[in-house]
Amino acid sequence: MSTALKRIGVFTSGGDAPGMNACIRAVVRAGVYHGLEVMGIRRGYEGMIDGDFMAMPSPAVSNIIQRGGTILKSARSERFRTTGGRQQAFRQLEEAGIEGVVAIGGDGTFTGASIFCSEFGTPFIGIPGTIDNDLYGTDFTIGYDTAINTAVEAIDKIRDTAASHDRLFFIEVMGRDAGFIALRSGIAGGAEAILVPETETDIDQLISSLKNGWKKEKSSSIVIVAEGDETGGAFKVADAVKQKFSQYDTRVIILGHLQRGGQPSCMDRVLASRLGVAAVEALMDGHQNAMVGQIHREVVLTPFEQAIKHHAGLNPNLLKLAEILAS
Ligand code: F6P
Repeated sequence: MSTALKRIGVFTSGGDAPGMNACIRAVVRAGVYHGLEVMGIRRGYEGMIDGDFMAMPSPAVSNIIQRGGTILKSARSERFRTTGGRQQAFRQLEEAGIEGVVAIGGDGTFTGASIFCSEFGTPFIGIPGTIDNDLYGTDFTIGYDTAINTAVEAIDKIRDTAASHDRLFFIEVMGRDAGFIALRSGIAGGAEAILVPETETDIDQLISSLKNGWKKEKSSSIVIVAEGDETGGAFKVADAVKQKFSQYDTRVIILGHLQRGGQPSCMDRVLASRLGVAAVEALMDGHQNAMVGQIHREVVLTPFEQAIKHHAGLNPNLLKLAEILAS
């Protein structure tokens, strides 16, 4: 392992995800272990442009592994999309003596990192941190496991009241471009239907399957709608269904940002810890412009270019499973 690096930076960017703190902790602890200085960059690329840096010795990350959110805060930066913004960020990194950066976030974060790396040559290693699980190059992203467990807990609670009142609920879960949260939480929550952006939603087919349930004396039903479904979300689907099938008393609930908070699950903490250490070691080994992920339990590096270009797809077996279980 090369020891040429002396000081590295770490930041979180994009939508926060449970486990980001565990990941920051792992980056700091791995840095300290290998004799590096670690600087925290606050507010993602915004803080990089503003030089909002803080030294992070080992005690700076005590007592955070169990906390949701991110102690470094997060942001979506418009300024970093401009050449001027990136030039300023480069100057700030140079002035602070930061020679390599660990970026924890999603594909927007890695797109920015990839452009920055090619413009200025600063080595970046990315870590997948998003509840959406939509990144190529890893089986799971940090935050996804916690988010689906939060969603399932909510679905279970809604099922109680749905059953008590014989109602049909449309529950919208997050996932702007992907149905991972919808699919897993829907299966685990016993949903009657799951609508995801990856497959075309057929409202008539949805109505016919709800009618079948009604005929079989199913007194309540739950439909999970991914935020990014092309129908435009749970309210729109509910309206479309009600127009042609109004037997059920219907309610709509948007789980929203609730899914982004809370204590990270054991799985997210371990994944975050493993990838945090791997990212520091990848930087020390001279890697750059790539994301560390975990595939089939092994840590793998995927160039940003590929991680951004390809999209992780839903497992067709799970889609089929959901259909069988709802019949
Ligand atoms: O990328 C994670 C995510 O939670 C998406 O599922 C969601 O569409 C988006 O972030 C919401 O972003 P914001 O918090 O900026 O509204």
